[in-house]
Amino acid sequence: MSLPRFSVVHVASEMAPLAKVGGLADVVGSLAFEQARRGHRVIVALPAYQSLELPAGWMRRAFQGGDAPWGLSREPAHFDIAEPPDSSLRVLLVSHEGERAFFDRPGIYDDPRTGEGHPDNAERFLFFARAALQGLKALGEPVEVLHAHDHQAAWALCFLRTHERSASPFASTAAVFTIHNLGYQGIHDPWVLALAGFGRDVFHPASPFEFWGRVNDMKVGLSFADLLTTVSPTYAREIQSNGEFGFGLEGVLASRSADLFGLLNGIDDVEWDPARDPLIPGHYDRDRLEGKGVNREALIAECGFPDAPALPLVGMVSRLVEQKGIDLITQAEGELSRLEARYVVLGQGQPGFQDRLRRSAHRAPERLYYRSGHDERFAHLVEAGCDLFLMPSRYEPCGLNQMYSLRYGTPPVVRAVGGLADTVEEFDPRTGQGTGFVFQRFDAVEMVGALRRGLAVLRQPDLWRALQKNGMSRDFSWRRCAEGYDRLYALARERVEAGQVRTLESLRAKTEPAPRPPGR
Ligand code: ADP
Ligand code: GLC
Repeated sequence: MSLPRFSVVHVASEMAPLAKVGGLADVVGSLAFEQARRGHRVIVALPAYQSLELPAGWMRRAFQGGDAPWGLSREPAHFDIAEPPDSSLRVLLVSHEGERAFFDRPGIYDDPRTGEGHPDNAERFLFFARAALQGLKALGEPVEVLHAHDHQAAWALCFLRTHERSASPFASTAAVFTIHNLGYQGIHDPWVLALAGFGRDVFHPASPFEFWGRVNDMKVGLSFADLLTTVSPTYAREIQSNGEFGFGLEGVLASRSADLFGLLNGIDDVEWDPARDPLIPGHYDRDRLEGKGVNREALIAECGFPDAPALPLVGMVSRLVEQKGIDLITQAEGELSRLEARYVVLGQGQPGFQDRLRRSAHRAPERLYYRSGHDERFAHLVEAGCDLFLMPSRYEPCGLNQMYSLRYGTPPVVRAVGGLADTVEEFDPRTGQGTGFVFQRFDAVEMVGALRRGLAVLRQPDLWRALQKNGMSRDFSWRRCAEGYDRLYALARERVEAGQVRTLESLRAKTEPAPRPPGR
């Protein structure tokens, strides 16, 4: 039986190929395109960042000026519609025309001059959420599913269920919220509540807004959504189980356990296809792997590594933050340098991690090559040219690079957390089953052990070929997993049609003790 088709609006702070910091962009972009291909009517609401450039073939037209409620007054907004070639998808670009130019400045989340978050991020994304709904009202098309991603978009669901609940496009809208990363929650001082149009009366510990005396955007999204998703089944369990993964919201998440689903992300397997990838010099597939060697040579040359001895190449493409286990790499530096391997790291992030990598690469340029900055082409070359790919994450909601590396015949070495645990199986040389090398504890010795197992299999060409083929045969495409969202949307809509939506009043009734019967 085929599932119904919906008019879906994604509200997100990133979307590939228009604005990207990490995997959120890849996921929002490729999910939205796949949904449009499946016959849904899809709009993505996205801030009109200064850095946003439309790829060839896209069209942009001014749609309408307007404004958005802002505390007791209003802030000017402007909306454009961008449309890609060969898809019915539309992007609603939200500009802020006010003096402080929330989006018309360098940097998506961080100010590139300081390397720190923009000091007014609370206001920037609050405005984005409020203005996105104004833009949708101006479009005037009924919205059946409003799907917000991560804390930057969370307020859209609150406004949907409060200030905008009687606006006609939202008459029967289902609210879905996807958690991509609980390590970033958007926690601010309570004055933002007034900008959002709420009084202090709604600010108490059981309310959707309050979190240890401050306002928590992620909690707002978790509270008002009809259904919640996160990006892998294991992460869905982990975030309810303890503070290490739940970052203080584990109780809120456990209380919504019945409404929380773990849907594994897909990848864009057209963009990430070693047989066709325009960003790499050698093309190959699982039956013709010779082209991989061409990429290897190109990578060695680009990194300036000596031709001999021919040592295995271990790659990493990552934001350089604690989440990604960069401290494990720095702890294990001595051990790693004693392994028969060379390392290629592409990534930007915390200045401390960048400096450390820079210094190590300077000390041993024949062993470690480090490139900072965002470099899409080099990311593809690292995936294609390396032998092994390393992801020792502390936590990992899903992770995309391990799926790219499986597809590129570059077996991943991963810690068994979140989506890494759901996508990589330890290779067993006796049975020839498995796709990579997995370690359990966040521990440098365990990580080096897994890397050693990988290097040992690499020395046995037949086993290695079997391992590569296993990984390259896995299907992680959105075609396979978009159906999970179709089902979820259908369920959320059933709830809305049955009148089961979460409003400020219904949430208050749930959390406040029942009044005592009279006379007692
Ligand atoms: P996260 O979203 O937590 O950063 P993911 O594995 O989900 O992790 O996605 C990371 C995405 O960002 C991948 O597409 C990866 O290739 C890309 N990426 C990360 N750092 C860089 C970089 N410096 N240059 C190019 N791409 C990068
Ligand atoms: C987040 C997570 C990452 C996930 C991505 C897309 O940035 O850190 O694990 O793959 O979102 O969902």
